[in-house]
Amino acid sequence: MLEKVEKLLSEVDELVANTAEEAEQLRVKYLGTKGVIKALFADFKSVPNEQKKAFGEKLNELKAKAEKKINSLKKETTFRVNSDNSDIDATRPVNPVGTGSRHPLSIVRNEIIEIFSRIGFTVSEGPEIEDDFHNFTALNFAEEHPARDMQDTFFVERNPDVALRTHTSSVQVRVMENGEPPIRTISPGRVFRNEAISARAHCIFHQVEGLYIDKNVSFADLKQTLLYFAKEMFGDKTEIRLRPSYFPFTEPSAEMDISCNICSGKGCNICKYTGYVEILGCGMVDPNVLENCGIDSKEYTGYAFGMGIERIAMLKYKVNDLRLFFENDVRFLEQFRTAD
Ligand code: DAH
Repeated sequence: MLEKVEKLLSEVDELVANTAEEAEQLRVKYLGTKGVIKALFADFKSVPNEQKKAFGEKLNELKAKAEKKINSLKKETTFRVNSDNSDIDATRPVNPVGTGSRHPLSIVRNEIIEIFSRIGFTVSEGPEIEDDFHNFTALNFAEEHPARDMQDTFFVERNPDVALRTHTSSVQVRVMENGEPPIRTISPGRVFRNEAISARAHCIFHQVEGLYIDKNVSFADLKQTLLYFAKEMFGDKTEIRLRPSYFPFTEPSAEMDISCNICSGKGCNICKYTGYVEILGCGMVDPNVLENCGIDSKEYTGYAFGMGIERIAMLKYKVNDLRLFFENDVRFLEQFRTAD
């Protein structure tokens, strides 16, 4: 009997368990109600009296040792995911996962799309690499118009007919060519101009073009749509002002200012103390443009407008340097977290 206990004592020392399950099996085997040690305690009665003391001591020692060993095996294996002895603690909280944030220009673009989609405008896209017809000729740019100059436009050296689009007005042409009035669409996208990079200009930027063609579209429709947009984008108190201007593709043409959202029209250095800031160009689509795109200018009229997304974003978020939108500095970007 005593030998049996001695043997178990050294056996317990060597016990190993790779998983919590194995440790539990060992507990059942040695310490369970039907386990080896319980059985030995039951045998205690039959041990001759003179051996009882020594046997009892050894038996208690065995029980204590088995408990200690099996408990520590349990502890070791409980948090272990793999059976390869690696020390992974699956209960540890994970490192926080950075979810990133939407780029401010995407936020503003989506907001513009959302505002116009509420009044029935669809979204159209066109290629960033354009031909002369869609970027200039169809839009009524005279052959010698200075905007075609190498100064402003990135041409493709091998083919003077191909250029990076200088504005999203090119999408107007494609939409009119491919569709029938009524047309009510906006076209957000990236545009390119050969400009020196500064706080106010960049060679790559973003625009949203708007186009509405139907019977009897008037300048009043244009003005009301733009007023709606300005109020939705910059707040209900926003006022608009239209100034006569010139664009080859619209007649009459105008530029639209909004009451400065920074000083509420009182005058500050953003609005150069005028109380107003310019945000877009617009006008009635020139009949020549309609005809160039296969639309009968006697039957249909339309309006168009175009705005820079960076400009809207700068005013909305009070950003004073355009370059910040392109540097991708997380300290800047993470300030634009949105709920989605
Ligand atoms: N394409 C013009 C630009 O890039 C913006 C513009 C002005 C678009 C008037 C229009 C418009 O549709 O009607 O500066």
